[in-house]
Amino acid sequence: MNYYALLLIVLILLAMYFLLGSFLWGAGYQPTPRSVLLRMMAMARIGPKDRVYDLGAGTGALVVRALDEGADSVVGIEIEPIRFWFLRWRQRRHPRGDHLELLREDFFKAELSDATVVLVFLWPGAMRRLDEKFRRELRPGTRVVSYWHPLEGWRALEEDPKKRVYLYEVPTSLRPASPGAASSAGPSGASP
Ligand SMILES: C[S@@+](CC[C@H](N)C(=O)[O-])C[C@H]1O[C@@H](n2cnc3c(N)ncnc32)[C@H](O)[C@@H]1O
Repeated sequence: MNYYALLLIVLILLAMYFLLGSFLWGAGYQPTPRSVLLRMMAMARIGPKDRVYDLGAGTGALVVRALDEGADSVVGIEIEPIRFWFLRWRQRRHPRGDHLELLREDFFKAELSDATVVLVFLWPGAMRRLDEKFRRELRPGTRVVSYWHPLEGWRALEEDPKKRVYLYEVPTSLRPASPGAASSAGPSGASP
C-alpha cells in the first residue's frame, strides 16, 4: 500500500470517528447552521448579565456566538475528546475566551441552576431526559432555546417552524412533572 492510500484511509477513519464517534457517548455531531444560529441568538436575547450554557457544545458554533453577543459568562459542555480539544483551541483564540468555561463531562450530570439561558441541539431521547432536569434545576425566567427538537409538553413562547427553533421560558410555578402529566403541566403556560 502506498503512502497516499494509507493517508486516505486514516483521513476517512478520522472523519467517520468525528461524525459518528460520539454515538459512543449518546449522540452524533452536527454543527448548527449559521442561519439557525442567528435565529437562536435572536430568540435567546443574550445580554451582559447572562450565563449561557450549551449542552453538547460540539466545535463551538453556539458558545463562540454567545461570547460575541456579550454574555457575562458562557459554559460549553462537551463529552467527546477531539471536539473538546478543538473547543479549547477556539477559546484560546477568542478575545473574550476568559468568559468561556469548558467542561468535558456528561451534561446530564452537570448542575444547571445558575443558567439564565440554555441552548440545545440534541436528539429526542436527550430532550425527554432534560425535561425532568430542567424542571428540577432551572430557575424561573431561564430561557431555553432548542434547535430541531421541541421540549415535549412545554409551551413554546416563540417558535420558528421553518427553521425548527423553539424558545421556552421557565415559569415561577415549575415543578417536577408527575408521571403522564408532562403535557398538562408544561412550562411557559398553564397548558399546551
Ligand atoms: C448535534 S451536536 C451540537 C453541537 C453544537 N451545540 C452546535 O449546535 O453546533 C451535539 C453534541 O453533543 C455532544 N454530546 C452528546 N451527548 C453528550 C453528553 N451526554 N454530554 C456532553 N456532550 C454530549 C456530542 O458529542 C455533540 O458534539
